[in-house]
Order: sequence, then structure tokens, then C-alpha cells
Amino acid sequence: MYTVSKLEDFSPAALDAAAEELLSALVAESQAAADSAAFVEFRNRWMARKNGLLTQVNEMWLKAAPGPAKREVGQRVNLLKQKAEALVAAAEQHAASAALNVRLRAESVDISLPGIERPLGVRHTVLRTLDELISVFVKMGYSIAEGPEVETDYYNFEALNFPPNHPARDTQDTLFVANQERKAQRDRLLLRTHTSPVQIRTMERLKPPVRVICPGKVHRNDAPDATHSPVFHQLEGLCVDTNITFGDLKGTLDHAMKSLFGSQVKTSFRPSFFPFTEPSVEVSISCPFCGGRGCRPCKQSGWIELLGAGMVDPNVFGFVDYDPKKLSGFAFGMGVERLTMMSYNVDDIQQFFYGDMRFLEQFA
Ligand code: PHE
Repeated sequence: MYTVSKLEDFSPAALDAAAEELLSALVAESQAAADSAAFVEFRNRWMARKNGLLTQVNEMWLKAAPGPAKREVGQRVNLLKQKAEALVAAAEQHAASAALNVRLRAESVDISLPGIERPLGVRHTVLRTLDELISVFVKMGYSIAEGPEVETDYYNFEALNFPPNHPARDTQDTLFVANQERKAQRDRLLLRTHTSPVQIRTMERLKPPVRVICPGKVHRNDAPDATHSPVFHQLEGLCVDTNITFGDLKGTLDHAMKSLFGSQVKTSFRPSFFPFTEPSVEVSISCPFCGGRGCRPCKQSGWIELLGAGMVDPNVFGFVDYDPKKLSGFAFGMGVERLTMMSYNVDDIQQFFYGDMRFLEQFA
């Protein structure tokens, strides 16, 4: 380690050599002072007023110099001090920036690491189909009406012209709420078997003309299999005004099916029965997959049955204080899962309810 030694020779050349030796020792030590603690130690060793190396230079070189050489030595020692101070200041800067670098490195974040990926959700296929259906009817001026999933016997059956104990009730395998025996039959609760009760609730609420669609969840006591589920969705429609005819029903549903499946699709209406419509029809569309030639989805028939529909039975108007002599209307209903199975080529209705990501992700 460098120490200041006494000078024998005070000639300029000897002084320069000694100064050179001192400065290079100072530089070497400053480079070794990497952090701030080491720098403080380095600065004290060299600059301390009391016994720092430069104070020693004063004592041993300047004060010890013989009279005639004093002036010369004094100038050189001064110059040497200035250089030393500049070097120490530079070393201080260096140590500070080295410390900053250490801190930055410790606090740095590796932005190339993969982040936490959250998969984007999408709408369930059944709801997507429902949205499409809704938009077709909204464009025709229909608004949306909703009703409760837990219904009374009155709204689900009686006001829809299913008299108490009428055999037509057996067509809808109903899930009843238990322990209702003490209530009058019309007040007993059940899980709605169709969205048709919303027709009644809407007509109770609104004066004609009425044009609504009623999307929603319905429940039936069906054992689950590839085409049956105890929970599914329906879209119901109701249009009531003066002079509504069967032609309006046909035109509306034909237009809706063409909007959904393309203008080449044909509709077919066959007589059927529902207690709340008279006459009633089953509506089929020409198979959109094979154009009617016959394929697997249409079971080789060329047609796919999609809707129930009919002209609102005058008895139904009687339940909601609509005058059947002045008013007429039509209603229709369809199963949303059926339509979705067709559109997305799904062959098991249960898949919609399992919540299996592998199934759902196919449509993301
Ligand atoms: N509510 C009937 C059903 O669930 C469908 C339907 C609605 C039929 C409206 C005609 C008119 O089977």
C-alpha cells in the first residue's frame, strides 16, 4: 500500500517523479473503491485534514524542503493537491454511478417474462343463437319481454287455455314446487314449461297493438339424453292488433327463417295443436345443409321442424280482457338449443350444460 516517504532530493525532477508515483497510486486506489463505503474510506485515507496522505505531503515534502527550494516545492505541491482533488471528485462521481447501477440492476424487472394470461371469454353458443334470433325480430319492430321462471299454474296453464285437469297438460312434463296442496290450484308454483306465460303477462300489462318476443329458460321433467334436457331455452313471439291474419304469421316467420338461414330457405306449415292457438301449426324449413335433397341433419327428409305457432285462441284474449271480436294475433315458439345444435353441428344437447371447456372452446 502506498505511503508518503521523505524526500532526499528536492530537485524538480525528483519532485515530479514522487508526484507521479503518488497520483498513480491514488488513481489505482480510487478504482478499487467500488461502493460508497469503500469510497469514504478511500477519501479519508487521502484527504483527511489530520493525517491524510496529502497532509503528510505538506509535512514531509513542503515543510521539510530547504529554504531555497521552498518556492519551487510549494508550487508543485499545490499543483499536486489540485490534481489529487480533481481525481477524488471524479472517483466520487464514479462510485455514485456504480452504486446507482447496482440498485437499478437489483430493481430491474424482466419484461420478457411471460405474463399471467387470462383467456378472453366469449358468449355461449346458445346465447349467441338467441342474440341472433332476437336481432331478427327486433328489426321487425318487436320488443323484448321477460317473465319469472318460477310460475303459477294460472300463467303457465290456465290462462293459456289449459283447463284444470285437461289432458293437454300431460304434453308438458311439469316440475311442480312441493308442498303447494293447500293453495288453490291456479296459485300453485311450478317451473315454467314454456315461455308462453310471458304472452299473458305482456297482454295484462300492455294495450294492443302488441309485438313482443320472450326469450328465456324453461324446465321440463325430461330425462336427459342426446336431444332432451330438463333445462333449455325458448324464444316465444306474440303479435296482436286489429286485422292480424294467418298470412301475417306466415310472412313473418318466412322472413325470419330467411334472415337466419339465407333467402333460399323455404318454409312449410302443417296443422298441429296447441291449447292457446287456433288454428295451430308446426313450421318446418327446407334443410339449409342439403337444400332439400336429404342429409344427416334433416334425417334424409329434406325438412327440419323448428317452430310451433298459430293464431291466438279467442279464449286466451278472454283471460286478459282483450276483445276477441276486435283483435286477432299470432304466436310462435321455438327451442333455442335445437337451432344451435343445427347451426353449430352439435349432436348432443347435454354438451351445452356440462361446462366442459374443450367443447366450449371450439366456438371461441
Ligand atoms: N309453447 C309451445 C311449446 O312450448 C310453443 C308455442 C308457442 C306454440 C307459441 C304455439 C305458439 O311447445
